[in-house]
Amino acid sequence: MAGHLSPCSSSSSSSSSSSLNFSHPSSFELRKSLDKFLVLPRKTQEPSWVPRIRSRNSSRKSFQLKSSNGHSLSSVSLHDGSSLVKEHFKPNVQDSLSPVNSGSEKSELTYSITVVGASGDLAKKKIFPAIFALFYEDCLPKNFTVFGYARTKMTDEELRMMISKTLTCRIDKRENCEDKMNQFLKRCFYHSGQYNSEENFRELDIKLREKEAGRLANRLFYLSIPPNIFVDVVRCASIMASSTSGWTRVIVEKPFGRDSESSGELTRCLKQYLNEDQIFRIDHYLGKELVENLSVLRFSNLVFEPLWSRNYIRNVQLIFSEDFGTEGRGGYFDHYGIIRDIMQNHLLQILALFAMETPVSLDAEDIRNEKVKVLRSMRPLQLEDVIVGQYKGHSKGGKSFPGYTDDPTVPKDSLTPTFAAAALFINNARWDGVPFLMKAGKALHTKRAEIRVQFRHVPGNLYKRNFGTDLDKATNELVLRVQPDEAIYLKINNKVPGLGMRLDRSDLNLLFKARYPREIPDAYERLLLDAMEGERRLFIRSDELDAAWALFSPLLKELEEKKIVPELYPYGSRGPVGAHYLAAKHNVRWGDVGNEDS
Ligand code: BG6
Repeated sequence: MAGHLSPCSSSSSSSSSSSLNFSHPSSFELRKSLDKFLVLPRKTQEPSWVPRIRSRNSSRKSFQLKSSNGHSLSSVSLHDGSSLVKEHFKPNVQDSLSPVNSGSEKSELTYSITVVGASGDLAKKKIFPAIFALFYEDCLPKNFTVFGYARTKMTDEELRMMISKTLTCRIDKRENCEDKMNQFLKRCFYHSGQYNSEENFRELDIKLREKEAGRLANRLFYLSIPPNIFVDVVRCASIMASSTSGWTRVIVEKPFGRDSESSGELTRCLKQYLNEDQIFRIDHYLGKELVENLSVLRFSNLVFEPLWSRNYIRNVQLIFSEDFGTEGRGGYFDHYGIIRDIMQNHLLQILALFAMETPVSLDAEDIRNEKVKVLRSMRPLQLEDVIVGQYKGHSKGGKSFPGYTDDPTVPKDSLTPTFAAAALFINNARWDGVPFLMKAGKALHTKRAEIRVQFRHVPGNLYKRNFGTDLDKATNELVLRVQPDEAIYLKINNKVPGLGMRLDRSDLNLLFKARYPREIPDAYERLLLDAMEGERRLFIRSDELDAAWALFSPLLKELEEKKIVPELYPYGSRGPVGAHYLAAKHNVRWGDVGNEDS
């Protein structure tokens, strides 16, 4: 990453970086003048629009849960005691400012979301559609503005056109979509500028102020840009465009570095301009419905938590597969590979949530404290517990699919893995000896993400003879299908009705679309809303990130230094056979193989 990351001393000569830069010189004064309004702790004073959202969505359990999560947020990352002192003295108008006491003042709050990198793919496909979906659902506050910021020259009208054309989201099929869209587009504006130009961010600030019209302003910046310009953007935005009267927050998209060193450097650079509290490191898998549901399943059902340990669980499998290659993203992907792209973040985050001890509360810091303990308890990853693969071209049914290195942006001799499988272990009392198997791959036969929990054999099973010799086939398995077709199902043994005694594998099946007919919000919707509410539970704290890199960096270094050649697998196949050997070595059989759809 070192080569990719802007050094903290930024490229712009006009930088006047200082550690206090994310606040405007006048903010302290302003805060003092506002203090008289700020009597209630943050979480008890929600912005005026929150109760409306929640009552409107009373059938949406996620909102009810969120409100049950309403303990006051600890504003400081607990791993870094020093930041407590530092942040305390930063003359920065922070979270506690956002909700203002009296009703009339609340309505005078205004919010802006600036999408930096507005013309990029992620912005078009995910971020703008998510903001629109929130608007459609009346989840956004009354006063809000959306700004696109990028180098491309574009007018407001052109941005609106771009948004409306690419706005393919769950809302498409709903009533009044067009009316709502028109209302939404009126709130969208564009500013073209360089990513390292303080002057251009000053111009953005002027436009933001115009829209804010003297109200108390909260500003959210969404960095949908390559990591090599994160620091430049944060520097310019912090110096020139941070709010002087409300909070300023920044959502950062991965990759957060390439290894421990570059990630540490990135964090250090960002913290020259931002407090940890202002940084929202997004991992969109944490916003997925089933991942959010994992803790509910475990902690609010008596039947699961007692089984959640090495005593009953034989292995856990975290599986990610996509049925398309890196088409169009080869340049980015080749620098990272599947381990950094999927395993070190999405799958590891799920593992941490899955394996954590019961948190003291649903407060973000309590949950993140437990997750970080899991990450720090992990056994160092050994090369022999990992296999890597790369897809090759393949023809099927008269159609040919390109290999990874056929992509013109990928070097012909690239050893970058597009598939990996790994066996991980947690060295603690609960999970000692239980293999957590991860598998992630591109250009496989199916698109799927799931968590599979295989339970131990029933000791002295009375019905043993009914299963033949393969007892594995008779063990219970709990599957959380994250996507597609969200579902939770438990494989059980059942008697086939009739006079005989024939046993059958059956599913207790909760298929979400059958039980909950409303479409499920996209992960980005939940996460954007959380960032606006200051809810950090689903964002990655810097010590979690450090622990995640500490686990994967030595392995990645070894793979790269030893130039380990990935096993080739045909595009559209089930991936390299090595994944089966790896599982077999740990006495595991992949649950997604063999019995399709089960
Ligand atoms: C991103 C990865 O984080 O997640 C992509 O960079 C991957 O490579 C994507 O395709 C998958 O997300 P989803 O939500 O489509 O499963």
